[in-house]
Amino acid sequence: MKSDTTLTRAVAFPRVINIADLRRLARQRLPAVVFAYIDGGAEDEVTLRDNCRAFGEIALRPRQCVAVPACDLRTSVLGTTLELPFMLAPVGFCRMFYPRGEVHAARAAHAAGTGFILSTFSGTRLEEVSEGSSGPLWYQLYVPGGRAIAEAAMARARAAGYTTLVVTIDTPVSGMRERDFRHGVRELLRGDVWSSLPHVWQFITHPRWVLDYVADGAVRVFPNVELPGIGPMPCGDVGVILEKTIVTWKDLQWMRDAWQGPLVVKGVHTGDDARQAIDAGANAVVVSNHGGRQLDGVRGSLRVLPEVVAAVNGQVEVVMDGGIRRGSDIVKALCLGARAVLIGRAYAWGLGAAGGPGVARAIEILRADLIRTMRLLGCSSVADLNPSYLDAPAGWFAPPHEPS
Ligand code: FNR
Repeated sequence: MKSDTTLTRAVAFPRVINIADLRRLARQRLPAVVFAYIDGGAEDEVTLRDNCRAFGEIALRPRQCVAVPACDLRTSVLGTTLELPFMLAPVGFCRMFYPRGEVHAARAAHAAGTGFILSTFSGTRLEEVSEGSSGPLWYQLYVPGGRAIAEAAMARARAAGYTTLVVTIDTPVSGMRERDFRHGVRELLRGDVWSSLPHVWQFITHPRWVLDYVADGAVRVFPNVELPGIGPMPCGDVGVILEKTIVTWKDLQWMRDAWQGPLVVKGVHTGDDARQAIDAGANAVVVSNHGGRQLDGVRGSLRVLPEVVAAVNGQVEVVMDGGIRRGSDIVKALCLGARAVLIGRAYAWGLGAAGGPGVARAIEILRADLIRTMRLLGCSSVADLNPSYLDAPAGWFAPPHEPS
């Protein structure tokens, strides 16, 4: 494996100037199947594209001749103080992108003073992630295997110092991610050598990744989903697993009681569902369409944000994710009422490109972008951002359709 110094150099300026550069390097280092898993969305990827496009439809309204010698980027979400108004979203299978990927990503987040959300579908034990770092940690819950197994995971997460539970509600089945199937993700996760043969060329051409992956144990289980009498759940077919994980509003009330700490509902697409989440006991909601990986054809997250902010009316905190590639994207989301945002692919590409230093570089790019944007905007604190810094199309604030 390359040293951190070499990796840091590989992603230094000017080789890597923006997040798109990290994506390009991830594409070079990773076999096509792993890159496709990070990069792809569901079906025609309409929502994947709209997540990014929505940011382009909003213009910024700067205030000139305002001296901004320093910018305060701090925020707090559910009592967690963050040095930056973004956290690292739950991303499954990080260990495919880089050995012990979740540990490196969490460390990079904490070194920058922000939080990391560990996915149930991670390849690293949640205790190992918390031992390796010292900042805010949240745990994202799926419930494969049923309630007892989920409760055991919650107890482990609480004991290991995870403060907040994030329940993802937009995965009643897996989205149809066509790129995954074309490149053989199922075969890779099952470790099925014979059926992987048609896809073997991508591994032959990426020997360094293969060596790293094998040296890291080629993990094909979820170590945070312990099946009684069996051990960690095999990755198998994630689609089948997800179909057994449908979360209803009733389940949320059970989770609320079982967790007893701050609870976040992730995957809200409408004001109505935001209200339901509040009724079920959520302390915050994440406006998210899973990065365009689930139901294709839903609106880009940023377009949904004003509806959700209006519906919750300050009762709970609102976070959003989807399509964040620039610091100015974060500024726009905060102006529209998000307390913070989550980044997914922006750091996953960094991890795939260069491990921990790649994640650190992604965070640094967004931090520098944020400061530059705030100074150009004439605003010295993210707490002061509001809709007056934006020109958004009027339709964005129209009341949602009422059922007739
Ligand atoms: C995800 N996402 C996700 N969400 C979740 O709740 N649990 C999970 O295990 C995963 N896994 C996952 C894997 C990969 C490769 C990606 C790209 C995304 C969704 C993620 O948390 C977040 O909602 C999106 O990534 C946000 O969109 P951007 O930032 O990727 O555009």
